Amino acid sequence: MSGQNKTTLKADFEKFDIAFADWKKKNPCKQFSDYSTQRIDSGLKKGRAHCTLGLNIAGDVNWWDHGRPAFKSIMEQVAIPTDAKVLEIGCGSARVGVHFIERQDTGCYYGLDVTDAFFAYCPDLIGELLIEKKAKFGVIPEKLEEAISWNADLVFSTAVTLHVCPEEEDAHFSTIKKIAHQQEASIVLQSYLYEKNIRFSRSGWARPQDYFSRLMHPFVLVNSMDDGVWESNGYVIDVKFLTFRRV
Ligand SMILES: C[S@@+](CC[C@H](N)C(=O)[O-])C[C@H]1O[C@@H](n2cnc3c(N)ncnc32)[C@H](O)[C@@H]1O
Repeated sequence: MSGQNKTTLKADFEKFDIAFADWKKKNPCKQFSDYSTQRIDSGLKKGRAHCTLGLNIAGDVNWWDHGRPAFKSIMEQVAIPTDAKVLEIGCGSARVGVHFIERQDTGCYYGLDVTDAFFAYCPDLIGELLIEKKAKFGVIPEKLEEAISWNADLVFSTAVTLHVCPEEEDAHFSTIKKIAHQQEASIVLQSYLYEKNIRFSRSGWARPQDYFSRLMHPFVLVNSMDDGVWESNGYVIDVKFLTFRRV
């Protein structure tokens, strides 16, 4: 990236962070994730298209097909039986989760998010299947204890770790590890990788693979699967599905 672009980007982040700091003064108990999800929510309510959330997904792909490749990649990592309990962190509007809802037995999907704003679209998006499969949704941290005692076999996230800012990463990864407390549980995270820790957009961070491994300790990285590259603001970021287990 050119020096000019770097300077422009830095100035944009600074402006964004000043607006967040002002908002935080009025909302001292809230986090960056609350700030950024509120902004997205207000865009969705105005009818804006989003890459992953809400009724109006950007691009030509049908909503049901949009999350299928990620679902298939996760299934390639973990050959779970249909009675395995699957918990999704940062489920959004269940774009990927719906395929687990469809595949798994009744009562085997639990979607968690920091806001209920996005899974509120699920009844419209998914319809009858949601009720038939008794899919469950909840907001963290309120539902954290319940989610832990749900005893998930698989915990996964897609398009979430990139949005977790450095100040919130310890809390985020510790939540994932607490939920995956069963000895045999697997964790699959769609992860944005770069040779060093970088912020590539207002709400986008990439980390080295061994940094993810440290955040996930004592879980151990057992597989890493390529999921293409993501180009943003001059950065070329490797996207991978990282699978962690206890050893
Ligand atoms: C880009 S959306 C992806 C939604 C969904 N996983 C998908 O792939 O369609 C990011 C989601 O992560 C959630 N999120 C952001 N920060 C989070 C955090 N710290 N913990 C859990 N979820 C978070 C957002 O509310 C949002 O639903």
